[in-house]
Amino acid sequence: MEHTISITEQAERKVTDTKSLPFGKIPTEHMFIAEYKNGEWQNAQVVPFHDLTLSPLALCLHYGQTVFEGMKAFVMADGKINIFRMDKHHDRFSKSLHRMCMPHVPKKLFKDAIHQLVQLDAEWVPKEEDGSLYIRPFMIATEDRIGVKVSDEFLFMVVASPAFAYYTKPLKVKVETTYVRAAAGGTGAAKCGGNYGGAFYPTQQARDAGYDQVLWTDSVHHEFIEESGTMNAMFYYDNVLVTPQTSGTILDGVTRDTLLTIAREKGIVVEERHVSYHELVKAFEEGKRIEAFGAGTAAVVAPIEIIAIGHKEYKCYVEPDAIMYQLQKALLDIRKGVEPDPHKWNYVI
Ligand code: COI
Repeated sequence: MEHTISITEQAERKVTDTKSLPFGKIPTEHMFIAEYKNGEWQNAQVVPFHDLTLSPLALCLHYGQTVFEGMKAFVMADGKINIFRMDKHHDRFSKSLHRMCMPHVPKKLFKDAIHQLVQLDAEWVPKEEDGSLYIRPFMIATEDRIGVKVSDEFLFMVVASPAFAYYTKPLKVKVETTYVRAAAGGTGAAKCGGNYGGAFYPTQQARDAGYDQVLWTDSVHHEFIEESGTMNAMFYYDNVLVTPQTSGTILDGVTRDTLLTIAREKGIVVEERHVSYHELVKAFEEGKRIEAFGAGTAAVVAPIEIIAIGHKEYKCYVEPDAIMYQLQKALLDIRKGVEPDPHKWNYVI
């Protein structure tokens, strides 16, 4: 079904100095909102950013029926605005929604909503080299009912916020072997709110111990690396780029996919497989040069400087000639339109 998006423009809220603010702290002037009722999407609108009115009984507040995405728009070298990998983000959003018993959002509605919002708030897309507009499509269950059930009513919304570096320095991470993020058959591959809420406690403990993030391990052996807090995990050593396979317990990261594709095209050997922390310890103890980094939309490429495994800390290679920076540069060059985009990842407004 075709959806018409009505647009209500706001008088004007000035773009402030967004660079000095924490990630995601200030929204742009507008937001997109559509309601799902009686089995269909209706009232699709781009409106001035405003607070929601929700019943305290709204199911999302009690049972966590929420799903989100994170994507980015950039100013390209020629001044046009590019929204990166819309199709892949829609694909993952659809899979997350399906897993959480939430209604499908047609691709056209998803893309039109984001296009209209970004176009209207184009002034908010940072022009700086290290800036982007972070776009957050999300859905919440809004039916007001305390009983545990799949909601019959939902809101699909898109908000956006100017973004700069998510992590400002190389990370210290701790391999987590007590708590788990996801188990086989669970929701680990879905971008649902509960996955993040459940991660807070172990992450806070890691922070208290002096680390920025955890590196999750599998729920059975507590040995195989899964992902890091807000991103997929990658390692480069022995001339191979190694990353845990998408087995259903980790997110099918869009940046992960982008970097692996770029790496393969550069002739780098890529392995998607189990990565035991014992394997890492062995490589560190043999004195190998090991790169470790996170890959995510918000984080892009986040170098890891220290990995704590048990009581020992191991130092990773973060010097400027590291492969991870070459991959990051190749990604930025495609997004900026200064290198060809053979996979049609760019959606240029
Ligand atoms: C992203 O990288 O887009 C994420 O969703 C991670 C985080 C900001 C929650």
